[in-house]
Amino acid sequence: ERADALPRDLEGRHVVVSAGGTREPLDPVRYLGNRSSGRQGYAIARVAAQRGARVTLVAGHTAELADPAAVHVVHAPTAREMQVAMHEAATDADAVVMAAAVADFRPVDLAENKIKKGGGEVPPLRLAENPDILAGLVRERPAGQVVVGFAAETGDETGGPLHHGREKLRRKGSDLLVVNAVGDGKAFEVSDNAGWLLGADGGEQEIPNGSKALLASRLWDAVRARL
Ligand code: CTP
Ligand code: CA
Repeated sequence: ERADALPRDLEGRHVVVSAGGTREPLDPVRYLGNRSSGRQGYAIARVAAQRGARVTLVAGHTAELADPAAVHVVHAPTAREMQVAMHEAATDADAVVMAAAVADFRPVDLAENKIKKGGGEVPPLRLAENPDILAGLVRERPAGQVVVGFAAETGDETGGPLHHGREKLRRKGSDLLVVNAVGDGKAFEVSDNAGWLLGADGGEQEIPNGSKALLASRLWDAVRARL
């Protein structure tokens, strides 16, 4: 969809979007990270700006994406930094979208110097659980704020991606959840995206395979309807 064809229906709204993956440092040169490129979150931020919103984009690590036009970008490399940035930006937001791939765990210890091999023993990797940023945003949201989560699901022996998505929506308590089926080269490191948009009100919409900008448009349509 062309920017000049988009409705200006987010005019006067402040929206906050997280994107990219967090990197949890182990020593000055190493981290635990993930394969998120940030492309979907950036598309969501860009489309919101094109529809007239004031946009704050809280960015973890991305595939060197350029800052979208007319978007305020805050960099937050780790989960804990992202948590602080999201809560700060969300205080006066009309909608919050957690598209970032937040590392579930971080190394307990951050070595001051580069960890060296030798000495005969393999160092243990002790992990601590990161805060659930989305759950905290849901807990502390001001009245009327619409909160959106994402879930990338492969499915397993207990059920498919949609089944896991429904469970996650209930657990997280967000208003909307975008569920992407992943695996087999889907979603990660590709430019297209397909999935479902699930509402806490029971609404379910299939999102056909299309561009990340198209998914972003469907997402803002659903948010707009709840504002
Ligand atoms: N999320 C978050 N903080 C975390 C982990 C996840 O805010 N520490 C957010 C993600 O940005 C996403 C949603 O929660 O919007 C779902 O993330 P996901 O990794 O699918 O869910 P988890 O609760 O971490 O469950 P699991 O990875 O075990 O499936
Ligand atoms: Ca997770």
